[in-house]
Amino acid sequence: MTDAAIAELDAPSRASAEPLILAIETSCDDTAVSVLRGTHVLSNVISSQDVHNLYGGIVPELASREHVKAIAPITHAALLEANTRIEDVDAIAVTVGPGLPGSLIVGTQFAKGLAFRYQKPLIEIDHIEAHMYSGYLENPSLTFPSVCLVVSGGHTSLFLVESFTKYSVLGRTKDDAAGEAFDKVAKMLGLGYPGGPHIDRLAKEGNAKAHEFPRGLMHEVSYDFSFSGLKTSVRYHLQHIRDSGGIVNISDIAASVQRAIVDVLVSKTIKAADAVDASAICIAGGVSANSELRQTMSARAQADNRMFVAPRLDYSVDNAAMIGFLAGKKLTSAL
Ligand code: KG4
Ligand code: ZN
Repeated sequence: MTDAAIAELDAPSRASAEPLILAIETSCDDTAVSVLRGTHVLSNVISSQDVHNLYGGIVPELASREHVKAIAPITHAALLEANTRIEDVDAIAVTVGPGLPGSLIVGTQFAKGLAFRYQKPLIEIDHIEAHMYSGYLENPSLTFPSVCLVVSGGHTSLFLVESFTKYSVLGRTKDDAAGEAFDKVAKMLGLGYPGGPHIDRLAKEGNAKAHEFPRGLMHEVSYDFSFSGLKTSVRYHLQHIRDSGGIVNISDIAASVQRAIVDVLVSKTIKAADAVDASAICIAGGVSANSELRQTMSARAQADNRMFVAPRLDYSVDNAAMIGFLAGKKLTSAL
């Protein structure tokens, strides 16, 4: 038998030597469950809660209730899609924070219940840490050290990532998260929730130079961010246009706001990558879906000969695949 044939025969047993992980994520308003064989994603099911759209923001009490309704069926769906059974799972991973306390309780209690009932080890995962490594889930050839920008509705942080077990925070927002800035401006413009995708769409038709909005802390030495000044500036600006009988060009406002946010995010990330001599740049979290952020960051990284990864949408937004991926890495490094 040839070496290749022997390798072929060995392949299934080698693959099944990797742990089968069931991962659960309920930190905010998405109930997400994923099954992975090692770091290979077998299923990634996400149930988003549309109920919050009516209120222009997440209502924590409603989020918890929706998680309670969805968690068992979504877990069932994820196991089914992965063609496996809970009995076959080697470990259960769950997000333990940060997030909405009521939402986290649903996921953690459910995971603990499963772990106890089926006698499986429980791996506790930090939500932001999982976002940070989602670039490595998307592209396993991504190198270290990297600078990773995690931008979501609740977080805006810049990390230096040196390995799967070593990272440090370079900077974070001092007030609003970037996603919050998108959502609040969208609300002022009468757009739906979440606001980021609306701003992204409208910005394509607008003039980004129409209004000069503040770029908080952009020229400061630190890698911290601030978006509250931008939000206030947009509010006064809109009031001024309306008071003087003018007509608000929503697309121009959207394009100018988006440019201000993207300018700061890109400038700080590139400055950090230069300072630590990073070989790669990664963006993650819901705001990393923003088309201008992806294009601008990618172009800047390429110009500097750095790898650039923005995970595909279902690995960028809140998902359980990233929770299971990090759990798999932690299991392997503990062996
Ligand atoms: O990571 P995520 O799904 O949930 C957490 O907050 O953890 O991020 C949601 C945020 C929202 O603020 C939403 O407006 C923003 O991501 N977002 C976007 C885009 N898509 C989602 N912001 C800008 N442009 C987008 N295309
Ligand atoms: Zn998140």
